[in-house]
Amino acid sequence: MWKRIRLAIALIGLFACTSFVGCAKREEKVMGIKIGVSVYDTHDAYLSALLSEFNSYITEKAKETGIAMSVEVQNSNGSQATQNNSVEDMIDNGCDVLCVNLVDRTDPTVIIDMAQQKNIPVIFFNRELVEGDIERWSRLYYVGANAEESGTLQGEVAINAIENNDIDKNGDGAIQYVMIEGEAGHQDSKIRTETSVAVIKDAGIKVEKVASAIANWDRAQALTKMSGIIDEYGDEVELVLSNNDDMALGAIDAYEAAGISDEKRPIVIGIDGIDEGLEAVRNGKMYGTVYNDKEGQAKAMAELIYSELVTKDFSAIEFKTGRYVRLPYAKVLKSDTIGTKYSR
Ligand code: BGC
Repeated sequence: MWKRIRLAIALIGLFACTSFVGCAKREEKVMGIKIGVSVYDTHDAYLSALLSEFNSYITEKAKETGIAMSVEVQNSNGSQATQNNSVEDMIDNGCDVLCVNLVDRTDPTVIIDMAQQKNIPVIFFNRELVEGDIERWSRLYYVGANAEESGTLQGEVAINAIENNDIDKNGDGAIQYVMIEGEAGHQDSKIRTETSVAVIKDAGIKVEKVASAIANWDRAQALTKMSGIIDEYGDEVELVLSNNDDMALGAIDAYEAAGISDEKRPIVIGIDGIDEGLEAVRNGKMYGTVYNDKEGQAKAMAELIYSELVTKDFSAIEFKTGRYVRLPYAKVLKSDTIGTKYSR
């Protein structure tokens, strides 16, 4: 996967730069844009899909504008210290703009200070920094989504499942559920976990938590954790709510590995709508998911870069509050038009 992305990155740099003709008044003559991208962990399924979209939008933008654009991606391997060092390297290597997916979203200080010193704008994405930090300098931005909305929509998908299917297998009037959580301290993990269950309860549905497990957004970790839960509770679980698709797929893997038949398995619901998640919804292994608009986020990042470095015109950027751009989520059920709207 990463080899493919790197190849794409190399190709983006091919566009020869010409002078600007007929551009808006305030546009600067930009000869080339070097973009440094730092990711908390490049093995993350959602982020690798988002980055591949980002590369496509940058390629398009380069063609459209005739400005040479290159993208360099650095993996932080889950270490904030590694991320700080690689951002420093990217600044030293002459990057014009930084896109940073923070390892520790509460600790952007070193990066902000380095960028501000060299007057290099930073677009933080996906892992949300706190308002006090983004306010520290006017060339800091955030592109992501609204975590609460994803929790609400996941709760609504669960209500749909409960109302339209006989999922209360033991007939006790309550839904026994398992929560698979992403990462401690991540805004999406905490808020999705709280909101999805609150929405189900608010609809007057009785739920009982059988177990919860942290699987760090990762399919293999979710497989291990869910296998442990199956060992303990057998086929008692009626609903699995997962903070993302990759872990939902890991939970499904655990049921496959345990040899539990489809009829005895719980309803599984994810978030993200990555390709494999959508495929699982299509083939009925997963009841539904919530689409996390990676295309919209990638496009917003590309447009922000162009506004920041070339036009200085931000009128087309939809800031929600301050310098935060948030793309909406959408529910995905088998009955929806998946295959048209959400697949290529
Ligand atoms: C996504 C997860 C991803 C995480 C990484 C979340 O918004 O839903 O799939 O692992 O971001 O930060």
